Amino acid sequence: MWSSKKLLFLFFLFTTLFQSSSAVKKSYIVYLGSHEHGGVTEADFDRVTDTHHEFLQSYVGSHEKAKEAMIYSYTKNINGFAALLEEKEAADIAEHPNVVSVLLNRGRKLHTTHSWEFMSMEHNGVAPSHSLFRKARYGEDVIIGNLDSGVWPESPSFGDEGIGPIPSRWKGTCQNDHTGFRCNRKLIGARYFNKGYATYAGSEVVQNGTLDTPRDNKGHGSHTLSTLGGNFVSGANFVGLGNGTAKGGSPKARVAAYKVCWPPIDGSECFDADIMAAFDMAIHDGVDVLSISLGSPAVDYFDDALSIAAFHAVKKGITVLCSAGNSGPTFGTVSNVAPWILTVAASTLDREFDTVVQLHNGQHFKGASLSTALPENKLYPLITAAEAKLAEAPVENATLCMNGTIDPEKASGRILVCLRGINGKVEKSLVALEAKAVGMILFNDRSHGNELTDDPHFLPTAHIIYEDGVAVFAYINSTKNPLGYIHPPTTKLKIKPAPSMAVFSSRGPNTITPEILKPDVTAPGVNIIAAYSGAVSPTKLDSDKRRVPFMTMSGTSMSCPHVAGVVGLLKTLHPTWSPSAIKSAIMTTARTRDNTVKPIVDDINVKATPFDYGSGHIRPNRAMDPGLVYELNINDYINFLCFLGYNQTQISMFSGTNHHCDGINILDFNYPTITIPILYGSVTLSRKLKNVGPPGTYTASLRVPAGLSISVQPKKLKFDKIGEEKSFNLTIEVTRSGGATVFGGLTWSDGKHHVRSPITVGGVKG
Ligand SMILES: *[C@@H]1O[C@H](CO)[C@@H](O)[C@H](O)[C@H]1NC(C)=O
Ligand SMILES: *[C@@H]1O[C@H](CO)[C@@H](O)[C@H](O)[C@H]1NC(C)=O
Ligand SMILES: *[C@@H]1O[C@H](CO)[C@@H](O)[C@H](O)[C@H]1NC(C)=O
Ligand SMILES: *[C@@H]1O[C@H](CO)[C@@H](O)[C@H](O)[C@H]1NC(C)=O
Ligand SMILES: *[C@@H]1O[C@H](CO)[C@@H](O)[C@H](O)[C@H]1NC(C)=O
Ligand SMILES: *[C@@H]1O[C@H](CO)[C@@H](O)[C@H](O)[C@H]1NC(C)=O
Ligand SMILES: *[C@@H]1O[C@H](CO)[C@@H](O)[C@H](O)[C@H]1NC(C)=O
Repeated sequence: MWSSKKLLFLFFLFTTLFQSSSAVKKSYIVYLGSHEHGGVTEADFDRVTDTHHEFLQSYVGSHEKAKEAMIYSYTKNINGFAALLEEKEAADIAEHPNVVSVLLNRGRKLHTTHSWEFMSMEHNGVAPSHSLFRKARYGEDVIIGNLDSGVWPESPSFGDEGIGPIPSRWKGTCQNDHTGFRCNRKLIGARYFNKGYATYAGSEVVQNGTLDTPRDNKGHGSHTLSTLGGNFVSGANFVGLGNGTAKGGSPKARVAAYKVCWPPIDGSECFDADIMAAFDMAIHDGVDVLSISLGSPAVDYFDDALSIAAFHAVKKGITVLCSAGNSGPTFGTVSNVAPWILTVAASTLDREFDTVVQLHNGQHFKGASLSTALPENKLYPLITAAEAKLAEAPVENATLCMNGTIDPEKASGRILVCLRGINGKVEKSLVALEAKAVGMILFNDRSHGNELTDDPHFLPTAHIIYEDGVAVFAYINSTKNPLGYIHPPTTKLKIKPAPSMAVFSSRGPNTITPEILKPDVTAPGVNIIAAYSGAVSPTKLDSDKRRVPFMTMSGTSMSCPHVAGVVGLLKTLHPTWSPSAIKSAIMTTARTRDNTVKPIVDDINVKATPFDYGSGHIRPNRAMDPGLVYELNINDYINFLCFLGYNQTQISMFSGTNHHCDGINILDFNYPTITIPILYGSVTLSRKLKNVGPPGTYTASLRVPAGLSISVQPKKLKFDKIGEEKSFNLTIEVTRSGGATVFGGLTWSDGKHHVRSPITVGGVKG
């Protein structure tokens, strides 16, 4: 038992600790909802800032202190501010009746996987086909922004040759810097936001001015921006491989970069206070589409700066797309899950850079490669990294080809066999090069199994699967003089089957609102080739002096801008469509089968589900003519928040209107997918379809999973004109109880259009 004296001491210790820690200031976002001003002038914005200072003054003591504490005042669309506050001050402010929420200025990550391990040039093949490109005039004059690590403005993807004057509605600017950064008629805006970052990095890091630039020093922002809206750039290639035409999803779109991501601090690169500021500005500047390839684990909507900011953008008619995250394949990892966001998963392309490893015993293995050919067409001696190790190096480290473990005496002139893991794949090839090897066979460890990647290696390299690696080892072990050859790599197109889900792509279900299926769709995100930064080498190693105009990267970061480009085309083609109509068009026309007409599979060849790909893989040409759409307006989103339990006061501040919660059932929320987390007995839900195509009669067809019976009422819907809306009811009934989630589908068709929604029903109870 603890004596009361001890307890008293502990209490004393606790309170002292608490007091000292509570005096530490942290950066917070104070979110006040929508602006009442309909104002657009600088004077209006200044008035808002004054009210923010006044508000803060009553908590921090004086006007001076309030000004000092304030990091950002959000004045245009989002009402709120970011400030350095003590924990107690933040808690007090949260109690104020005009405050919707107070959020810690959290950090987020860009959604690439080991970007430095990848490389190349020509843009991928699953861009929209020519017909949508042509019909949508290549996304002419649509304005697409991205929040990312900035842009490399000199990249040919952002040249403005042959592009007309900047649309007069554009209100954005180009923030100049010390590096000679310039915008043009293609890259029409670039801004940077680093004050929220500075509260973590320390003002000295930021104040010397080297970070005051929209220039991309990571490569990520240039890559995503060129994927969504880069020009046609012909003759793009890397060491002669994949020579072709680079292009973005909306190649004639205007693009704008909002730089919110900086050198990482404890794994975070992009901070919420900056993200909020960038959103507020981008909405004001006049973007039509916003693509955001970053995130952090999902949290409640009012505690999530990105969800809040995206809501304000959607309210202004901007379509907001976000990457789903790279935390797969674990279930429930999907992020950016608000229903007003289009959330994108990642899958493979039908392109590979292939090579063949040939052994002297006649065995052949397929490998992935983005590298040059061996100097001569002959067999070279093979050596395992363990055999080639320096005497003092631990064998585990040498096996991985870590720096300083390989003996050039032993590796020289040979093909070095290295194990994947721990250090970067491309770094291993640099170690091999520095050890004077002529080539490298990189084989997967057991955990990476069959996953091969195209990387910008320093010497002729073949990346092979685990099983083949075992065979190479067995061969080397079986002979005194092992010999082999790596064939010159070639670009292979129309690989089958494709797409398949990327192992890293974050999976559903949605942990915040399980009634909303997330992710929404999947798009190419593996080994994507797009523009890169001239500030950094493909490997990001200092010792790598190479600079490349194009690079391969993988991640949901890469799939998101693909869909953003398609949204740009749809905006050009259908300027009056709402963000939700565009989203519905993309979702209901997506496909769930691959190019062999078999169901899309997972990374381990198991049939994928809506938790992996949502509605499926995007099909841009179908999306331009979906027939019918499931539309949602701002009121629907607000009702959705009512349903989640936010009260009248919070809702009214958030929406900027005197909204009265109508007591909707969340299952009736007009989302283009149907998801019931747990079904007891039976349920009837309703949906409303809007005609955006020719007149026609649509008939419902159902794919009913075992254990359920599903019926639609009415079974036919007749539309006479554009804009006409019709409702239907769907009744789902349990016929046999079971614990597992089951998947079905509903399709409305007039013979030409197929409006498909996945049906997901969790634990089925009788
Ligand atoms: C500014 O700070 C950065 C980051 O600390 C540093 O790398 C750079 O050398 C500094 N530049 C100047 C001009 O002091
Ligand atoms: C790439 O293709 C272009 C034309 O399509 C050609 O002019 C150029 O020589 C090619 N480059 C390489 C390295 O193959
Ligand atoms: C071996 O690799 C580990 C990391 O896996 C590293 O911590 C250790 O320092 C390395 N040992 C030597 C001797 O290089
Ligand atoms: C390995 O370390 C040496 C010396 O520190 C350095 O010169 C070389 O560039 C490094 N190589 C790699 C691949 O990092
Ligand atoms: C190599 O061969 C020896 C015996 O010949 C065997 O014990 C060992 O497991 C083999 N190693 C590998 C990696 O195949
Ligand atoms: C609404 O919710 C907030 C936060 O939970 C609370 O502070 C406030 O008192 C509530 N208002 C009403 C009218 O219930
Ligand atoms: C759907 O069901 C509701 C409630 O049962 C009913 O009021 C409504 O008329 C039905 N709608 C259609 C289109 O059948």
